[in-house]
Amino acid sequence: MSTPENKTALTLAALGATQPEQLASLFAEISARFDAQTAAAHDEGGWKQFRDAWLGRKSGVLTQITDNWLKPATPELKRVVGQELNKLRAHVEAQIEARRVAIEAGTDEAALARERVDLSLPGVARSVGSHHLIRQVFQQIEDIFVSIGFSVVEGPEIETPYYNFEALNIPEFHPVRDDMDTFYLQLPKGAPTPLLLRTHTSPMQIRTMEKRRPPVRVIVPGKVYRRDNPDATHSFAFHQVEGLAVDTDITFCDFTGTIEYFVKEFFGPGVKTRFRPSYFPFTEPSVEFDVTCVFCGGSGVSAGGGTCSKCKGAGWIELFGAGMVDPAVYGFVNYDPKKVSGFAFGIGIDRLAMLKYSIDDIQVFFQNDVRFLRQFP
Ligand code: FA5
Repeated sequence: MSTPENKTALTLAALGATQPEQLASLFAEISARFDAQTAAAHDEGGWKQFRDAWLGRKSGVLTQITDNWLKPATPELKRVVGQELNKLRAHVEAQIEARRVAIEAGTDEAALARERVDLSLPGVARSVGSHHLIRQVFQQIEDIFVSIGFSVVEGPEIETPYYNFEALNIPEFHPVRDDMDTFYLQLPKGAPTPLLLRTHTSPMQIRTMEKRRPPVRVIVPGKVYRRDNPDATHSFAFHQVEGLAVDTDITFCDFTGTIEYFVKEFFGPGVKTRFRPSYFPFTEPSVEFDVTCVFCGGSGVSAGGGTCSKCKGAGWIELFGAGMVDPAVYGFVNYDPKKVSGFAFGIGIDRLAMLKYSIDDIQVFFQNDVRFLRQFP
């Protein structure tokens, strides 16, 4: 007896199928055989074999039916065989495509399962860095001044001579420019103004007053540059915080009170302060502000009994320059010097940090040695 497997290798005549009615059950058998094999194709290789077994041009089952059943069929059977074959082909092709899609999706799922990230696994621990000590000191200063009503503004490090010098009452050939020799940018011929790296944060006094009407209370943290030779207390790039307060009734007492408040907040209530006369072209009067030496407590004597090396026995350490804004400066920003008054100060942050944290060489701030940086987490 012929099994469904080999029936397609025989002609209809050999199978004894001579009537159209017999064809339906023959095709149903073939279709059932196909359906039974479908589920067995569960990976890409199996699917290809399955497809070739049924749709292969040379010896696939549908080719066999065409060659063995359709072509030699008697004229009265040919039309029905053709119809049944078309139905079977549509079914086979649709199922084989559906199987391909299912297998592909399964492969994707398997790949997804393989590559899935397990969120419950412990992560890779990365050590968190810390702010550089200079940034920490900036922050401490900002916090103190913000708490008494100052706001923080920042300005350009590349400046024009007008803002860095002239508008601060430092005309060309003024001797004070010698102390602030700096780096000039190489510009194309015909550039409207020379450009330089600012030597102090004071240009922001002018830029701020140009933009705002009094009352003005700002501090300006930032980097500044000078053509100074590096040593334990000098660097060619360093940091300053500028302060400026201008209003209609600011007095010298407001000035000293504000500065003293800041210094006691920053160093602690134990330090004593003093002002010494000084000179800046943009403040009048000008002062240098000193604190009692934080290393020897103002005694001038070191812990070992000798002269304190930090204050050289003076008991005082110079902190920064400051003063009441020179009325000439108001002329550059269209403020009326008869109506307004104010004070300004410029703190060297690197030296301030050196004092507070007993650091004896300014260069360590710029060397990025982690052994130093890790001491200030
Ligand atoms: C000024 O720069 C003025 N603009 C300060 C000022 C502002 C006065 C407002 C009045 C009113 P001076 O050149 O002294 O001043 O510098 C201020 C501080 O910067 C110094 O006290 C010092 O702490 C620091 N400093 C100056 N040069 C260097 C340097 N090469 N390296 C590190 N710190 C420096």
